Amino acid sequence: MLIFSKKAALQAHLDTYIKAGKGIGFVPTMGALHSGHLSLMQQSLEQNGVTVVSIFVNPTQFNNPDDLKKYPRTLEADAEKISGLNKDIIIFAPEVDEMYDGNTVSSHYDFDGLENQMEGAHRPGHFDGVGTIVKKLFEIVRPTNAYFGEKDFQQLQIVKKLVEKNHMGINVVGCPITREDNGLAMSSRNARLSDAERNEAALIYKILQGARKRFDFESIAEVKSFVESAFEAHPAFKPEYFEIAAEDTLEPATLKENRKYRAFIAIFLGNVRLIDNISLN
Ligand code: PAJ
Repeated sequence: MLIFSKKAALQAHLDTYIKAGKGIGFVPTMGALHSGHLSLMQQSLEQNGVTVVSIFVNPTQFNNPDDLKKYPRTLEADAEKISGLNKDIIIFAPEVDEMYDGNTVSSHYDFDGLENQMEGAHRPGHFDGVGTIVKKLFEIVRPTNAYFGEKDFQQLQIVKKLVEKNHMGINVVGCPITREDNGLAMSSRNARLSDAERNEAALIYKILQGARKRFDFESIAEVKSFVESAFEAHPAFKPEYFEIAAEDTLEPATLKENRKYRAFIAIFLGNVRLIDNISLN
């Protein structure tokens, strides 16, 4: 299986596919791979002539230096997982300087307000970092299709906006959230939960499912207060935000209109910050 660490070598290799008219599928990741990441790769394998997976812990999208330091780096195990799925997948795993040329800063992006909601409001600079690295990666890999998980729904919408605003001509594909058997959304950060906490964390999806049931016949304010009181009964959880928002603008909703809504949560369990979301209609 091929692992590239230099962009020029990767590009030279991919040129042969592009010349042959083979579509490139691309799955950007920060490694510490789990079944959620692998489901994105599976979808890419089914829809493209070749699949590229990047593994790069992007410093500019971490607003918390401790989170960056503690982020798991497990390239060898990741490569094994990928080769277990398919040995033809190409891995791109650059060092920080290869991506940032010694100037590890992000550019500023206007995503028509998507960047000001939820994760954007609570993690200053986060989406500038995501925009910066995804644009760089897209320019190197030049994919036909790029796969992003609905686990980070706001990121998915922002990447679609990035492609649209920069006329990049890439098809951004949203993929469903992969969950543990108990409903907990898979995440590289789950490795930092104790066994007991992982069990407890099942509550997040249970409450989101409760919110979805209520959304049919209760007002948005009522659904929000149901969720708030449900977590108040479990003091191990410290919610950062719970929002119901329209899928396209991500603006918090107060009244139900004829559009698609989702519920979004960010919540601390101990010192681990977890995010999840669910479609409501
Ligand atoms: P990372 O957190 O590694 O996630 C890589 C991709 O996997 C993202 O598109 C994310 O939404 C998806 N993903 C993560 N957990 C998932 C799950 N349980 N089910 C389905 N998809 C899941 O997101 C990033 O990395 C970075 O911000 C990145 C886009 C790579 C830019 O640095």
